[in-house]
Amino acid sequence: MLLQQLLVLILTQFVLSYKFTEDNWNSFDAYGVKLATNDGVVAQARNNDAQFILQFAPFNPSNLSSPCQIDYPGLATGDMNFIYSIDVPKVVSYDASVVFIGENTDNSSSPYPFIGHLLVNSSCETTYNMYYFTSFGHDEFFVHSIDPSGQIAYGFSSQFAFSYDLQTHSINYLAQWPFANFTPHAVDVSSSYVAIIAGFINGTQNIYEPIIYMLQMNINFFTIVDTWPYIPSNDSWQATTTNRDAGSFTRKHVMSVSIHDNTSAVLIGMPSFNIVFWFSITTTNLTLLAARANGYQRGYGQSLGWSDEDGGPYPVLLGNAYSFPYQWSSSTIYWFYWDQFISDNPIMPMFPTVQCPLWVDLDQHLITIAMSTLNLVVLDSTGQVYVMLQAPEGYYPTTSVAMGINPAFSDFVSCPGGTYKYWIGVYICYPCTMGTMTLEEGSTECSLYNCNGDNSFCPLGSVTNDTYSDMLTFVSQELSYPKSPESTIFDDILIQNMFTFGSTSHCLLVSPIFWVMVMTGFIMLILLAMGILKFSKQHADTRVLIKHIFRHADLINEGELWIGGPASLALMVLLIFAYTFSQSYLNQYPIETTSPSTFACDETLRNAKFETNLQSLSTPRNEEEEPIFDLLDEQQFTLTMDFINTQQTCDTVQITQTIHAYSKVISSNCSYNRSILSLSTVLQSHTISLNYVFDDAKSIGGFRVRIYGQQLETSNSSSKIYYLVRELNFIQPFLMNNQTMAYDPNIEFQLIRVINETDSLYDGGASYYNGLWSLISLTSTSDLFLTYDDYMYYGLLKTSFSISISETTYYIKNQQEPIAKQAEIIFHNLLFTIVCLELFGLIFIVIKLVGLPLANRIRRIMEKRSNIIHPEHSSDKLYQSTDTSEYSTTV
Ligand SMILES: *[C@@H]1O[C@H](CO)[C@@H](O)[C@H](O)[C@H]1NC(C)=O
Ligand SMILES: *[C@@H]1O[C@H](CO)[C@@H](O)[C@H](O)[C@H]1NC(C)=O
Ligand SMILES: *[C@@H]1O[C@H](CO)[C@@H](O)[C@H](O)[C@H]1NC(C)=O
Ligand SMILES: *[C@@H]1O[C@H](CO)[C@@H](O)[C@H](O)[C@H]1NC(C)=O
Ligand SMILES: *[C@@H]1O[C@H](CO)[C@@H](O)[C@H](O)[C@H]1NC(C)=O
Ligand SMILES: *[C@@H]1O[C@H](CO)[C@@H](O)[C@H](O)[C@H]1NC(C)=O
Ligand SMILES: *[C@@H]1O[C@H](CO)[C@@H](O)[C@H](O)[C@H]1NC(C)=O
Ligand SMILES: *[C@@H]1O[C@H](CO)[C@@H](O)[C@H](O)[C@H]1NC(C)=O
Ligand SMILES: *[C@@H]1O[C@H](CO)[C@@H](O)[C@H](O)[C@H]1NC(C)=O
Repeated sequence: MLLQQLLVLILTQFVLSYKFTEDNWNSFDAYGVKLATNDGVVAQARNNDAQFILQFAPFNPSNLSSPCQIDYPGLATGDMNFIYSIDVPKVVSYDASVVFIGENTDNSSSPYPFIGHLLVNSSCETTYNMYYFTSFGHDEFFVHSIDPSGQIAYGFSSQFAFSYDLQTHSINYLAQWPFANFTPHAVDVSSSYVAIIAGFINGTQNIYEPIIYMLQMNINFFTIVDTWPYIPSNDSWQATTTNRDAGSFTRKHVMSVSIHDNTSAVLIGMPSFNIVFWFSITTTNLTLLAARANGYQRGYGQSLGWSDEDGGPYPVLLGNAYSFPYQWSSSTIYWFYWDQFISDNPIMPMFPTVQCPLWVDLDQHLITIAMSTLNLVVLDSTGQVYVMLQAPEGYYPTTSVAMGINPAFSDFVSCPGGTYKYWIGVYICYPCTMGTMTLEEGSTECSLYNCNGDNSFCPLGSVTNDTYSDMLTFVSQELSYPKSPESTIFDDILIQNMFTFGSTSHCLLVSPIFWVMVMTGFIMLILLAMGILKFSKQHADTRVLIKHIFRHADLINEGELWIGGPASLALMVLLIFAYTFSQSYLNQYPIETTSPSTFACDETLRNAKFETNLQSLSTPRNEEEEPIFDLLDEQQFTLTMDFINTQQTCDTVQITQTIHAYSKVISSNCSYNRSILSLSTVLQSHTISLNYVFDDAKSIGGFRVRIYGQQLETSNSSSKIYYLVRELNFIQPFLMNNQTMAYDPNIEFQLIRVINETDSLYDGGASYYNGLWSLISLTSTSDLFLTYDDYMYYGLLKTSFSISISETTYYIKNQQEPIAKQAEIIFHNLLFTIVCLELFGLIFIVIKLVGLPLANRIRRIMEKRSNIIHPEHSSDKLYQSTDTSEYSTTV
């Protein structure tokens, strides 16, 4: 019987007693929040040391008072008090007031909760008030909060709730509590005693659903103003989360609540759903304004608060990333504008960044943040407290250093050139907008400068009023290779140029056919003159003489007709034009050395045809081509990078060269002038990448790539082939107005071999191979720059720059050949002459066979008619018939 009773006793004791594990004692996020701050004090609870640590204002980094280390109550009497969480009122009082809750786990049968009030003056004199809730046992969920003015604290556990008057230290239970199946996870109380409580409700089948209560508090009762259950949208991953293990305290199910009193804004974080809500409260309603989730992981909004910096309030939250099931991977603190909060776009972390890096002794795993009006206090997983201290106008916090030990404080430095800050706070400096600049560090505003027109470069974050109008040109030697003319057959070209008039006066002057026409006109005149002579008897001799001369000049009909003489002259004109044209045409080669073709209507006429093709480098090359490839490979490049509009200097940059995966640091010729940092290096290879790393995260407006290579020549005298690699002088600026260089741009260039082969005009003449490296950038310029918004996200992460150069596996081969060589031209001229002669002969034959009989017939008909009308004229018949042959020739 006795044994049975004892057994029951032991059993109940075993069930009731709860021991906090070693891990609980040593960690700073077990069962609650161990960090609190206001403008007058930074307070921390350390269970493993059984101490509170309080640092009093003023927080002057150069003259810090040493913090108060205050032993937990009951330590002297051997009581083991495990602190769940601490809180301080928002309003600063003369003595620091810290309200803490926890559980007493001394040697009694069961632990019981307590609440305590600690008052400390700046000489670390301490007063404690404690209240033990001995009628309640261990509670996994116990939260509390003080109203901002520090009058009343409210506590909520899963079994009971109470108010705690901080003046009289009296406890009043709230009889309506607990709510069925509700476990409170976080609470905050406003100055009008509105409590916002976030927690889980245990639904059916062990599914825990998040819910928020808005309660109007009184001393010993409350009214429920509003409730807001979080129901994830059906298609989200959150909808499938059951929080099955939320029945006991787990870190992944913590929640956080923060009320901004003046604006009645409420921020609630539910890291197990990776989501933060922004509510607005009225006397009757809790209204959701916005929610911001952060993807498929956990930890977003693990801890949060409001900043009143620059007119605030702005949400500040600790966005941890825990992969599933619950593996920590990163800690980041964000600071939001309303626009940023409601958008889905990622935003720039506030801490840690390159501009605001993590102090080396601060663990990367941050677990709690606390906000005073302007300071941000963080607590890492090892219990280190770090205060990111508000910086004055024109300054921003340097978080790589620490003043004091625990808590440690940041110092501040002035804003870099090109940025400004007109307010007090922890946020970074803003870049000067387009058209404004500041040269000085620590500016509170940027000044306007003159920046308009296309001929100026005005980036964000400008440090100079120089607009670099001389740096904007892109220089590339590569021109498009000409296309072959429409006709590359000499006959066609000759015929076309002989028989066109063209539309301009120049064309008319050089048009052979025009001069032939002129000649024809002249012949007509002669004919007319001969006709007139025929009627005057005394000039008959002259006429016969002229006929005789013309007959002898006739090349076409071998003197058959005297009119052949003038026609031959016309033919001669045509042929002379043809010969001079051909001679001039022959010498219009190669195009590089020719002058405009004034002898032809089309002044761009050249005796050259072209061929361009891409060839693979793997195609076997002939002996003749090989030297130009060798020469191209020999050309050494000097790369000059100009970083424009920056305050980066030669001392803060380091260049790492990588060739075939082997990296080493190299030196360079460096100069700094007109806010341009120029770094010049001789490249060891054509396939190389260079990485420029800058120590300071200072902005760079834009950059310019210059590549220079010297001209190289060689020749093969036996086969009369000349090889030349042209001087490479490539300049490409990368500048974008109203933007600034990205924090880590990577630009890629490809080198292409361009080879011009110019064949000789004469057999056995010299031929030329010209080579040139052509560069193209494969990176789109917009990828290398950041807009203002982008800069606010990425701008300060780091400053580095990479450029990589590689050769393509193909090359461009241009070939120039004459359309017609000398022999061909002579031969075709001969043909042309014969054709023309034959053509003229043909015309005569046609005239003889068709023209003459026709003319005779017409004349007879005419005569008959005139005889009928004027019969007296018939006496002329004899004369006319004797002269038939002669008359006919005048037709
Ligand atoms: C440091 O601060 C204390 C009080 O906060 C003041 O008395 C003392 O003069 C200060 N020391 C310096 C060097 O500013
Ligand atoms: C805990 O044990 C100590 C010594 O064993 C005793 O003095 C003390 O009164 C006990 N405390 C409680 C609350 O039982
Ligand atoms: C702190 O309190 C002690 C004891 O009440 C008092 O002697 C001391 O002057 C106080 N210090 C300050 C700075 O108020
Ligand atoms: C949650 O509810 C289920 C049934 O609704 C119950 O079996 C379980 O014990 C509850 N758990 C807690 C911690 O209340
Ligand atoms: C989500 O699903 C539940 C039940 O499946 C349904 O009642 C509810 O209307 C759905 N909600 C939405 C937003 O689709
Ligand atoms: C408060 O909520 C009630 C019902 O939910 C609604 O009728 C009322 O308009 C809301 N008031 C405000 C100020 O949003
Ligand atoms: C830039 O500022 C300097 C110094 O203030 C001034 O001398 C110069 O004229 C300015 N240049 C332009 C283009 O405004
Ligand atoms: C090839 O010839 C074209 C046309 O004359 C010229 O523009 C180009 O620069 C030449 N390329 C080389 C590599 O000489
Ligand atoms: C600069 O860019 C921002 C957007 O990033 C735009 O709002 C602003 O109007 C631009 N300013 C000028 C002068 O183009």
